[in-house]
Parts: sequence; C-alpha cells; structure tokens
Amino acid sequence: MANQPPRMLEGYRVLDFTQFVAGPTCTRLLGEMGAEVIKLELAPAGDRVRGDGLRSLDPKYKDSSHSTYYLQHNHSKLSFAIDLKKPGAREIVMAMIPQIDVVVENFAPHVIDRLGFSYKDVKAVNPKIIMCSISMAGQTGPLSHKAGYDFIGQAYAGVTDGIGQTDGPPALTTMAIGDVSTGVNAAMAVGFALLHRERTGEGQYLDASLLDTYFHMHEKTVPIVSLRGDKFHPTRGGSIHPDGGTTGVFHYRGDQYVQITVTPHQWPQLLRAMKMPELGTDPRFKNARGRRDNRHELARVIEDWLATFATRDDAIAAMDAERVPCAPVLTVNEAVKHPHMNERKTVRWIEDPILGKVAIPGVPVKFSAWPDRIDVHASRFGEDNERVLGDVLKMSADQIRKLYADGILVRDPTLENKSV
Ligand SMILES: CC(C)(COP(=O)(O)OP(=O)(O)OC[C@H]1O[C@@H](n2cnc3c(N)ncnc32)[C@H](O)[C@@H]1OP(=O)(O)O)[C@@H](O)C(=O)NCCC(=O)NCCS
Repeated sequence: MANQPPRMLEGYRVLDFTQFVAGPTCTRLLGEMGAEVIKLELAPAGDRVRGDGLRSLDPKYKDSSHSTYYLQHNHSKLSFAIDLKKPGAREIVMAMIPQIDVVVENFAPHVIDRLGFSYKDVKAVNPKIIMCSISMAGQTGPLSHKAGYDFIGQAYAGVTDGIGQTDGPPALTTMAIGDVSTGVNAAMAVGFALLHRERTGEGQYLDASLLDTYFHMHEKTVPIVSLRGDKFHPTRGGSIHPDGGTTGVFHYRGDQYVQITVTPHQWPQLLRAMKMPELGTDPRFKNARGRRDNRHELARVIEDWLATFATRDDAIAAMDAERVPCAPVLTVNEAVKHPHMNERKTVRWIEDPILGKVAIPGVPVKFSAWPDRIDVHASRFGEDNERVLGDVLKMSADQIRKLYADGILVRDPTLENKSV
C-alpha cells in the first residue's frame, strides 16, 4: 500500500468533533479518501463507543481505549484528546482553525455552541471553512431542540411504522442504517462543498440529520400520500411486500429463507424458472393486482416450489438461470465468509496491532484509482496529541508537557512513552 498515488482529499485537514456512528462515518470516509482527520475527543474518556464492542483479551490492554466498535468507525483518523472545559483549552483549538478545511460535529443541539465552536465562531476566524453539523432533526424547525439516535429519526420519518409483521407492532432494525447513511450523506455534502470552494473560494455550513436521511429513503409513498391524503395508508409489509406477491422473504427449509424481488415485467421469468406457465393464466395471479391481492396464496405456491430443491443454492441457481432477482437470506456470519464479499473487500480483513486479524466493512463504492486500504490504524485515546499540536501549532515538547501537567491534554494510560 505504501507506493500508492495521493488520494483525492490529501492536503485537506478535518477537525472532527464526532461521536457514536453518524458523525464518525462521515469523517472516516473523508479519512479514507486521504484527508488528515484530527478527531478531537473530549476528556475524560473520548468517544463513548470506545467502551463498546469487543476489547483485546490481553491483560496489557485491559484498560485500553481500543475496541472493535471504535476501530470500525474511527480508523484513518488521529486522536487528539483535550479537556475543552478547562481554561485555555478552547484557545488552543481555536488557534488551529485557520489551518482547518472542514469541521464536523454531531453533538446534541447547542453543545457545539457552548464549546465555543459554532459556525459563526469558526467562520469568524476562517471564512473559507466548511462546517457540517449532524443532528437528529436538523438545526431549524420545531424538532431541532431534540437529541436522538438512529431509531428516533427513523420513527419521526414514518419508517419504523413500515417495519414488522402487518398484524404486529412496528419492529426495530438491528443495525444503524440511518446513522451510517447520514454519515455517508454528510461526507457527500462535504465533498461537494469542497468542490464548490475550489471553484468560488466560498465556504459554507452543512446541516445533515438522521430524520432528513430517513425521510429521503421513502422511495414511493410520499407523493401518493400527498395526493390521496388519509384515503391511503401504507401498511407494514411483514415478510411479503404489500405491493405484490412476488416480492418477499420466502421460507425454504428449517431456518433458511430466500429473498425474491420480481416486478411485473419479470413475472414471466419467474414462471419459466418455476416451470409453471399455468400460473400466468391463473385468474388469481395473471395480473399484478391479482398477485398483490392474493399474495399469501402465491407465497404458498412459491414456498412449495422452493421446497422441491435439494438445497437452497439449487433454488437460487434455477432462478439465476432466468435472471430472476433473488438471494439466500444470509446471516452476518455467512456474509462475512462469503467469497464474493471477501474478493471485493466488502468484508475487509485488517491486521490490528491490539485486536489481531479482524474484519471491518470496506468503502461502499470502489474507486478504480485506489483500492480499499487494509493498512488502516485506529489511534488510542490521545495517541496523536503530540503530533497534532506539533504539526498544526508548532508547539514545543515543553509546552505540550505543561498541557499534560495542567490536565488539559489527556491520553490512554496504556499508551507507551509519550514522544515528548
Ligand atoms: C448522540 C446524542 C443523543 C448523545 O446525547 P447526550 O449524551 O445527551 O449529549 P452530547 O453527547 O451531545 O453532549 C452532552 C454533554 O456532554 C458533553 N460531552 C459529550 N461528549 C463528551 C465526552 N466524551 N466527554 C465529556 N463530555 C462530553 C458535551 O460537551 C455536553 O456538555 P454540555 O451539555 O455541558 O454542553 C446527541 O449527541 C445527539 O443528539 N447527537 C446528534 C444526533 C446524532 O448524531 N446521534 C447519534 C447518531 S450515531
């Protein structure tokens, strides 16, 4: 990896006030694209996810700030740990702002203002700066005072109501789809804002939110609801999509399932795969409306057909032969082992000095000029204090030592000797 050409964002510096998942995903992507990301972590213990996920079993690292959760979302960043509530600390960070291109934060509303780094504050020092705030519901509007996590934005966006069995309560997704996607959206916006700044010299403020990300995911119902009002209520899909009998999760055998998504123009392909042309003239299924209204009967026909295969893979192969969109419903355990995901580094194996060989997700878009990095490193809490203050503010070892003595700088106790 050492001899690679510079990545797109090399030369840009990001000051990263983020925590948990949404903000860190944004800055992690900027870091993967080559930006120098200085993750400013608040005393006493930094990003709260340092305490979550698996930790090393080595007693040497029992009290370390390194965890799988932190590694996944914060590799490709430097860790700069400072107690911003101590006198003099804010001034140190403010002195860095002229050399910062992008600031990203995802605290609860107004926390960043109280810390003294609102857009107004940083713009006064660096008019070309780009700042991105990520919040639950955005910086304006009646909900903008609320803090929240993925599920909170999801619930307000009308998304949670659509998940679960039709006759049961709404269900939870078990991964942070909204957090991660908001981070991706924010990284996209930062990239566009940098392009705009290159052309015009103008910086700007970006306001990303979990709620806006989730609402943006409705692919069909919003205009329909807007036109039909309360005459139309989307229903929870359960395992069979309410729009049609050929989209759903179908039982194969034991705890194995098959996902099939067949839109009306692909119905003949499914019939060919099933070798059941008679279904094409069956009055229950011959048109899309019939397949939707009789979807549970159709599901039974499909499941009976699936059960005729010796293996689930054989069923998939029969559908693949007719280009029917389908997939085995894999567990995460199966997905991590899958040859396709491994070949493309969708599952990216890295060698972590503390955790050993471990898999993390790859970058969600592949660049022809730069392969996904596997030589990634996640810093322990405060690991890069000296480097950041030395590089950005040209601070001397004595000045830095004094900041430690005053309790302004902090660091992981398991880190070896300081470089000063
Ligand atoms: C994630 C969230 C719900 C956490 O809520 P919270 O714990 O109540 O609030 P915050 O972490 O933002 O900050 C609360 C206080 O803790 C302080 N703080 C935050 N992280 C700290 C840390 N690591 N160490 C010490 N203090 C910390 C803040 O400075 C703030 O202090 P103040 O109230 O005196 O100004 C909230 O930050 C939020 O809504 N973020 C925006 C949406 C978002 O990104 N959600 C998470 C998606 S993964």
